Amino acid sequence: MMNFKKKISYSFDRGSKFYESNSNIQKKICVDLVKFYKELSTKNDRIKFKNALEMGCGSGFMTNQIKKLENFKKIHLIDISKKMISKAKENLSKENFSYQVADFDTFNNYKIYDFFFSNMSLHWSENFSIFFFNLLSQMPTDSTFIFSIPTEIKFDFDSLEINKNLFEELINTLPDTDFLEKQIDKKKFNFFSKKKIFKEKFKKPLDFFFNLKSIGANTNLKKTKTNIFFLRRMNSEITINYNVSFMFIKKIRA
Ligand SMILES: C[S@@+](CC[C@H](N)C(=O)[O-])C[C@H]1O[C@@H](n2cnc3c(N)ncnc32)[C@H](O)[C@@H]1O
Repeated sequence: MMNFKKKISYSFDRGSKFYESNSNIQKKICVDLVKFYKELSTKNDRIKFKNALEMGCGSGFMTNQIKKLENFKKIHLIDISKKMISKAKENLSKENFSYQVADFDTFNNYKIYDFFFSNMSLHWSENFSIFFFNLLSQMPTDSTFIFSIPTEIKFDFDSLEINKNLFEELINTLPDTDFLEKQIDKKKFNFFSKKKIFKEKFKKPLDFFFNLKSIGANTNLKKTKTNIFFLRRMNSEITINYNVSFMFIKKIRA
């Protein structure tokens, strides 16, 4: 049996081929994350950053967006999937960027960066709460951390065909960012968050799962496995509602 991490890297290795063409929702969310950051930061704040780290970079879309806004001296990109790292290398010019196949849960060099960013990746953490508070404790004073993460996925479709709960059972459990927000030490961190729902339509429910599979985001992390082939007989249009949290965190005190 493949372990948790192997399953994820294997799946995103496979998804790297079609990730760029089939990741429309991730791209939309990324553009919003960069906008959210731009609104909260001042130009003065921004020019200070030198050494950035992207966690779960995929094909490099977020680095490509943020480099239009920021003039980082260096950006280090990490991803657990070797093939995603190869895609990112293809998509970005060589100067200023370095790459590493690494797991953000066990990465131990957070202390040397002054800007941390991640789009739609950190929910793949083995334990998001441990990852999150570890990063907050290691990030240097005056550094900034921005990210987006899905916290809930809801479906709208003709519920006469199937019980909605059964459908939602097929989705991995997502982090509860409201609960984590309450635990952040507000004396040490300036903290802003926003929630937004993004919608994506598919002609039929199975198409949604095929899309997830095509980008490698289909690893089922639940202990109980459910076969999705019962969805084959469902032919009604489906809307996927992604509830996404955006966070901006600045460490003001050690
Ligand atoms: C949905 S993709 C998002 C990619 C990119 N940030 C974007 O916005 O297009 C999630 C990425 O996170 C990576 N990932 C998942 N778990 C990881 C981990 N523990 N450490 C590093 N990368 C991880 C996957 O390999 C994949 O490339």
